[in-house]
Amino acid sequence: MILIIDFGSQVSHLITRRIRQLGVFSEIVPCTTSMAAIKSMKPDGIILSGGPRSVYEKGAPDMNRELFSLGIPILGICYGHQILAHVLGGKVVSGSREYGLGRLSILKSSSILEGLSGSEQVWMSHGDSVIELPEGFEAVGSTADCKIAAFANEKERIYGVQFHPEVQHTVNGTRILDNFISICNAKKDYSVKGLVKRIVDEVKATVKDDGVIMAVSGGVDSLVASFLIAKATKNLHLVFVDNGLLRKGEVDEVREIFSGFENFNVVDASSSFISRIGGVTEPEAKRKIIGNLFVEVFERKVEDLRENGINVSYLGQGTIYPDRIESAQPSKSASLIKTHHNVGGLPERMKLRLVEPLRDLYKDEVRELGIELGIGKRFLFRHPFPGPGLAVRVLGEVTGEKLAILREADSIFIDELKKSGFYEKTWQAFAALLPVKSVGVMGDERTYGYIIALRAVVSADAMTADWAKLPLELLESVSSRIVRSVKGVNRVVYDITQKPPGTIEFE
Ligand code: XMP
Repeated sequence: MILIIDFGSQVSHLITRRIRQLGVFSEIVPCTTSMAAIKSMKPDGIILSGGPRSVYEKGAPDMNRELFSLGIPILGICYGHQILAHVLGGKVVSGSREYGLGRLSILKSSSILEGLSGSEQVWMSHGDSVIELPEGFEAVGSTADCKIAAFANEKERIYGVQFHPEVQHTVNGTRILDNFISICNAKKDYSVKGLVKRIVDEVKATVKDDGVIMAVSGGVDSLVASFLIAKATKNLHLVFVDNGLLRKGEVDEVREIFSGFENFNVVDASSSFISRIGGVTEPEAKRKIIGNLFVEVFERKVEDLRENGINVSYLGQGTIYPDRIESAQPSKSASLIKTHHNVGGLPERMKLRLVEPLRDLYKDEVRELGIELGIGKRFLFRHPFPGPGLAVRVLGEVTGEKLAILREADSIFIDELKKSGFYEKTWQAFAALLPVKSVGVMGDERTYGYIIALRAVVSADAMTADWAKLPLELLESVSSRIVRSVKGVNRVVYDITQKPPGTIEFE
């Protein structure tokens, strides 16, 4: 196993994912992790990630010198490259900013850069540079602006690269990570294929004959988690809460997904949700009401089961690896997602223990596992949908009329995206209903109707996003179909805001 020590780079998780894709298990831990914890993981090698700070800065993350006493190979990337040089007696200076593509010239053969050509495209993003190497080290690669872009100490098996081998723009970056795996002699025995049995055995050993309750949303994480738990126990009770804030056809679709499950319960709580958010306009207030009510409904379901003699002692959750690993700066929405995941402190209150079969996996691995389990691709590649549903897409006050209008407009947009092949090319797409009316003309009549805003974004992880450059003809056909067939709407606009400064959702 290869351990990634995270110094806060936005792309640290990518290193872990690449190592796993190369067949070696990898975990990521914060740079403050204790030596005892690191030793207990028995790593075959350590990678120090990049980070946003400068090694001389006050409060910059430090590196534990005891790592050297483990006697295993170490690779530093960007900040990791600088901190290695710094703590071992080299010199790092500020300035000579380099950002974007660069060309790496190989100065000398080394095991870390083995198999690369003399000149390689690499991705740089740094303000500081190593200008003097510690004793026993030699420069093995340079770029025009960075004399020591890669260094090596073959005897100690310590290496550093100023560029980022984990990003796609470094064309042969994966080869460098693979070289590091060989240097570490790490076993290539990790694959998602082999995981199904292991996870199912683990869940079996944990829950034994006890009951497991799980809230499902139709989203990929809870879907795959529930399929895995179902392979481990017959005593699984799935709950899908219809909060009346779902998209058109959603309840039927979710029923179809879970049609093979014995204990799948749809709780229709739509009227409670709609009446409790009636008259509320402030986005956070809406979210809070919905979150609290969800907990109430779920709690009642657990009580029902217990009253019927079903001993539920576990709460199944679709938590995935990035949900529980603190890395870089979690966004506001990331923490919201987490609160939602933890169903409002319910495990403690209801004395439920957690079972989280996906806790060590990345989203792409979850999807791969889903395919292994025979779940249809159209379910595994659905766009994300927020817990508070359409309540955060009907801006301001939510009413039954507005929800009905939004459902129709949204389904037309999604239908056109699917037909044109753009659904798969976007991270997320949806319609929102603005809380104002505008004037239009239809036939000879003046109209006064709602405005629908279309939002489609491309993103890798929802932390940042760009608006999707959809073809104008596609937008035009969506717009005319909506105005033509959705009563009450006479105008359609397209949102061209990036995140940041915007968010993906409107509220
Ligand atoms: P924002 O709007 O913050 O959203 O850019 C980022 C991603 O998170 C989703 N999202 C949520 N998901 N519960 C969820 O399960 C929520 O309360 C929630 N709020 C936002 C959003 O759809 C996007 O994919």
